Amino acid sequence: MNRQILNSSHFSVERGVIVKARELSPHDKLFEIALPEGKRLHHDPGQFVEVSVFGAGEAPISVCSSPTQGDTFDLCIRDVGRVTHTIHTLREGDTLGVRGPFGRGFPVRLFEGNDLVLIAGGLGIVPLRSLVQYVISNRRDFGKVSILLGCKTPEDVLFGDEIEQWNKRIDVHFVCTVDKADPEWCGHVGVITSLIPEEMLIPERTFAVIVGPPVMYKYVIGELLKKHIPDRQIIVSLERHMKCGMGRCGHCQIENLYCCCDGPVFHYDEIKHIEEAI
Ligand SMILES: Cc1cc2nc3c(=O)[nH]c(=O)nc-3n(C[C@H](O)[C@H](O)[C@H](O)COP(=O)(O)OP(=O)(O)OC[C@H]3O[C@@H](n4cnc5c(N)ncnc54)[C@H](O)[C@@H]3O)c2cc1C
Ligand code: FES
Repeated sequence: MNRQILNSSHFSVERGVIVKARELSPHDKLFEIALPEGKRLHHDPGQFVEVSVFGAGEAPISVCSSPTQGDTFDLCIRDVGRVTHTIHTLREGDTLGVRGPFGRGFPVRLFEGNDLVLIAGGLGIVPLRSLVQYVISNRRDFGKVSILLGCKTPEDVLFGDEIEQWNKRIDVHFVCTVDKADPEWCGHVGVITSLIPEEMLIPERTFAVIVGPPVMYKYVIGELLKKHIPDRQIIVSLERHMKCGMGRCGHCQIENLYCCCDGPVFHYDEIKHIEEAI
């Protein structure tokens, strides 16, 4: 496993300007950020940044746009506490601190030429969106692409407009399911695991990526193993409480692994022997 090598971007705080701020739900806002002088973040899909607001603190947040987006990058932030609430009060033109990018992202080079099944539960769509956008921007580099999204209710589906575009594409198979529907919902109803048996997967050429709440992983992996997807080709992104993001404080430690710099993205064979990982 290649642990992330530290560089100056991990220690120094850049001034990020909020170019656009858009409400996605009563708790979630999407911020488009620009670094000074058109500087690029140079992130891989699946990496995160440490975002700070003076006087409030710092929080790890996934970059939710593809590096192919250009000079800006997106952060989707849920208002849950001190730091995230303060970020929600910021407006277009305001600044915040950005360190990073941190961690190991999705192994996109390894995915090239193979089929992908990208599986997100709830807020897992936030880090997965960077990968989906990347794959769509480089569509010819990949085989069959399926995106499976599971949410509790239709109200919890974020990025509705964008998802509709994914759904319309003929080169992407997109399915969304909700645990509990409302009268207007005409899609699938049921937990995300119920979608996997329907998928026609060729094990030797399929990589499966899973991002979602901790409870989801065990069951989704179980369904993928029933389809004979090799452990190495099951990729998970794990979320743990993080502080430094650099393998120093131990907050994110899982046995001998630091989720911040060994992950957050892992191949299943790297963590399957660790009981507390999933
Ligand atoms: C790798 C990574 C990527 C993340 N990406 C996103 C993202 O894209 N969008 C987003 O909205 N959130 C993301 N989070 C979660 C986000 O970091 C926390 O919600 C944030 O740190 C809470 O800080 P706060 O001061 O607002 O809340 P606090 O007042 O500190 O706590 C409020 C709640 O948030 C939980 N929390 C606090 N710190 C963390 C932490 N470091 N990690 C997870 N939960 C925490 C607490 O248990 C509590 O339930 C990510 C976390 C990690 C580790
Ligand atoms: S967040 Fe400090 S060691 Fe990972």
